[in-house]
Amino acid sequence: MDPSKSLLLLGGTSDIGRAAALRFARAGFRVMLASRNEEEGRRNADDISARTGVTVTTHRLDILEIERFGSFLDGLPTLPDVAVCVVGELGDQFRAQSDPAHAAMVLRTNFEGPALLLGVLAERFLARGSGTIIGVSSVAGDRGRGSNYVYGAAKAGFTAFLSGLRNRLASKGVGVVTVKPGFVRTRMTAGMRLPPVVTAEADEVGRAIFAASQRGGDVIYVRRIWRPIMTVIGHIPERVFKRLRL
Ligand SMILES: NC(=O)c1ccc[n+]([C@@H]2O[C@H](COP(=O)([O-])OP(=O)(O)OC[C@H]3O[C@@H](n4cnc5c(N)ncnc54)[C@H](OP(=O)(O)O)[C@@H]3O)[C@@H](O)[C@H]2O)c1
Repeated sequence: MDPSKSLLLLGGTSDIGRAAALRFARAGFRVMLASRNEEEGRRNADDISARTGVTVTTHRLDILEIERFGSFLDGLPTLPDVAVCVVGELGDQFRAQSDPAHAAMVLRTNFEGPALLLGVLAERFLARGSGTIIGVSSVAGDRGRGSNYVYGAAKAGFTAFLSGLRNRLASKGVGVVTVKPGFVRTRMTAGMRLPPVVTAEADEVGRAIFAASQRGGDVIYVRRIWRPIMTVIGHIPERVFKRLRL
């Protein structure tokens, strides 16, 4: 137990986020939950606090309001030791193909907002000389597929941003971890038929996020099978790939 440590969770109403926050709270971290839906965020905060006895504060955050990122960070009780970003929106690929506003929302929610907020936070960690940033991206960003390339492109951008940040800050006391969960059974995937072998539970992802914060890590595929799967998918020649229905 280390009560002096604190976690900032960006996306305080997410299923994966809640599982991760519970892991940190059980290890004694104070928790700051940042959510767009304040009522739901407060419910999660009360639940985590009741289960673990740790202090959980709630904060309003809409990841699309980039002009408020500075005041959002200024309003936190403390600069966290660890920040985990799980903000994301799967969106509707079919709709995104003909509705640029919907596509823009998906791109901005999964890439622009998370990258820019973590970028501002990284500067504060750098000034202090410590901190760990954990961004939840997706294997969907490893190669664009016909069935979800708007979401995939946003996650690819987020993955590249985290990679660059990690590369820049590696020797400066600030760790940056990219987590690629593969399929996870959550609200986001409700109603989808997911193959069990490659599908994780939210708690499994929460455990992997917490472990990465303690042991360090760069790019983590939560179910390890995803790394060889995505390596193979990444190497399929384009002339073959474009004929596949993926
Ligand atoms: N589930 C999977 O299979 C899977 C696989 C790979 C990666 N991921 C990624 O894992 C992360 C967590 O997903 P999840 O499965 O836990 O789904 P989830 O429960 O739907 O969580 C998504 C979170 O993003 C928040 N969010 C969306 N738009 C926002 C905005 N404008 N401002 C602030 N917050 C916003 C949601 O808040 P509201 O409650 O207000 O909507 C929610 O807290 C996402 O980045 C997702 O892309 C998920």
